[in-house]
Amino acid sequence: MCGIVGYVGRRQAAPILLEGLSKLEYRGYDSAGICVNGDTPLQICKEKGRLRELVARTDNGAAVPGTVGIGHTRWATHGVPSDVNSHPILSDGGKIAVVHNGIIENEAKLRQILIGHGIHFQSQTDTEVVANLIAWYYDQCGDFLTAVRQTVGQITGSYALGILCRDYPDTMIAVKKDSPLIFGYGNGENFIASDVTAILKETRTVSYLDDGEMVMFRADSAAFFSPEGTPVEKKRETITWELAAAERGGYDHFMLKEIFEQPKALRDTIFPRIRDGQVVLDGVELTPEYLKSLRKIYLVACGSAYYVSMLAKYTIEKHCRIPSEAMMASEFRYCEPVLDGRDLVIIISQSGETADTLAALREAKRLGARTLAIVNVVGSAIAKAADSVIYTWAGPEIAVATTKAFSTQLAVVYLLTLHMGKALGTISDAEYASWISGLETLPDAVSGMLTDVHLQQIREFAARYSDRRDAFFIGRNLDSAICQEGSLKLKEVAYLHSEAYPAGELKHGPISLIEDGTMVVSVASGRKLFEKTLANIREVKARGADVLCVTLEDFAEEVAQQADGVITVPEVFPALQPSLTLIPLQLLSYYMACSRGCDVDKPRNLAKSVTVE
Ligand code: F6R
Repeated sequence: MCGIVGYVGRRQAAPILLEGLSKLEYRGYDSAGICVNGDTPLQICKEKGRLRELVARTDNGAAVPGTVGIGHTRWATHGVPSDVNSHPILSDGGKIAVVHNGIIENEAKLRQILIGHGIHFQSQTDTEVVANLIAWYYDQCGDFLTAVRQTVGQITGSYALGILCRDYPDTMIAVKKDSPLIFGYGNGENFIASDVTAILKETRTVSYLDDGEMVMFRADSAAFFSPEGTPVEKKRETITWELAAAERGGYDHFMLKEIFEQPKALRDTIFPRIRDGQVVLDGVELTPEYLKSLRKIYLVACGSAYYVSMLAKYTIEKHCRIPSEAMMASEFRYCEPVLDGRDLVIIISQSGETADTLAALREAKRLGARTLAIVNVVGSAIAKAADSVIYTWAGPEIAVATTKAFSTQLAVVYLLTLHMGKALGTISDAEYASWISGLETLPDAVSGMLTDVHLQQIREFAARYSDRRDAFFIGRNLDSAICQEGSLKLKEVAYLHSEAYPAGELKHGPISLIEDGTMVVSVASGRKLFEKTLANIREVKARGADVLCVTLEDFAEEVAQQADGVITVPEVFPALQPSLTLIPLQLLSYYMACSRGCDVDKPRNLAKSVTVE
């Protein structure tokens, strides 16, 4: 979603802002802009469309002098994508400039009050209310910091704000609530950003602002304040990952690069947590007594992370014998769940910022449940708010469609299941040892799925089916959950209408949609249920479907008699099988998207981090 970058220093601000914004493009946006406070006060360049247009118009920033500035990529919420709705937004009269991520919930009321004061609005954005309110307070009190404080006291909702004032040409103020904001320390210069990738080229030393915190800074100084306005010392953290991790490095797309990074991401997530043949989850206390006292586990997330929750439900329930339920965060938060201290809520999120997931976590805490987060982004809101965190060490994920974060979330689910099953005595020693050796070899097994031969085979299938309008994914049990993920991938990156159904459910309605040439992707990797899924494949074949089946090598011959195409995956410890059946589905979506000429890394209408409801 929207991205923010800000700079105060001695170098020309505009090129730094544009470079920072280019690193935020992956989040999804529809317009971009910068505002620089220089000899020309609060000079704004912004427009609807791609950042490259802004770069060309400003000669890569060279045409905009000044050493203090804010930049923004906007993903429209209030008001259509347009030049006037793009950020930065100026106050009426042009004294204040603001970039904003989030949503101001009481904007309509505040807008009316400000209109009553004779203030004129140009845009449809909620951000303009913030700019005008600061300017109004500033006119009353004559002090920039006080005016921002008073404004923050009036607005409700979520926000990360970067603010400039015409009368303070060397100063910036930033404040946040429920939307990420990072402060970066340079040498004689300072930065803000909504995402560390925007400033990583400039600095590795950062502080994460907490909710309600504010910073007022110049090139050589920064003063942080608590929500109550008292000065605070912020802990400085060092970013350890390399910028190369957030660059394409020779791949055509980030999505393909991240698919290929999965073996490493799995190693980084799994290996440090297996010591002397035992799962060790540092900082996560799940004693046998606590686990035995548990009434229920909820697994709560959005999108792909929700499908990890579905896989976790099957896995935890089967191996730990604890009733478990996967829920979409957007539903969970409003369904009045029956929760108290006897329940554990596991929250899964790559970004750690997804608005619905964060709200679900807060609701779970409010009701007294214990919360455990599985998160990729260190220091994110969900990581901070949960009672305990297990990080997925996937590294920065840039493509909008998740791949390696999904794989590592699943890996954490396996580790957690093993840990809990052992504590509860529901996993035998022999079974435990098989899981562990399966986990230790899982990254290599995934590597084995990324050979040229496999890629070529899937590319051919993708080309063959790229003209299809509809697709159905069918499977049972773990295969059914992985089908959900495969189907979501296909619709989001290849813009193909696609639905996933548990194979047994097909006859209860959706089979009426199967006709000549309908594409059906089936996943049949579970030994116990193989015959049943095969029967479902026969049913759709009989109605004219073109069937592609992902299955175990042992079943390939039998499947080939029914399906039009067979992709085999090596057999691993059964609970880990989804990590392998996933890979061809990711590649199928990727190559379908390429064949159909789609913008793979930035699919239309989608954003990487969904920070609004
Ligand atoms: C799909 C995808 C999304 C995310 C969802 C949750 O490829 O990436 O469905 O999984 O928006 O995001 P996080 O995990 O950041 O909470």
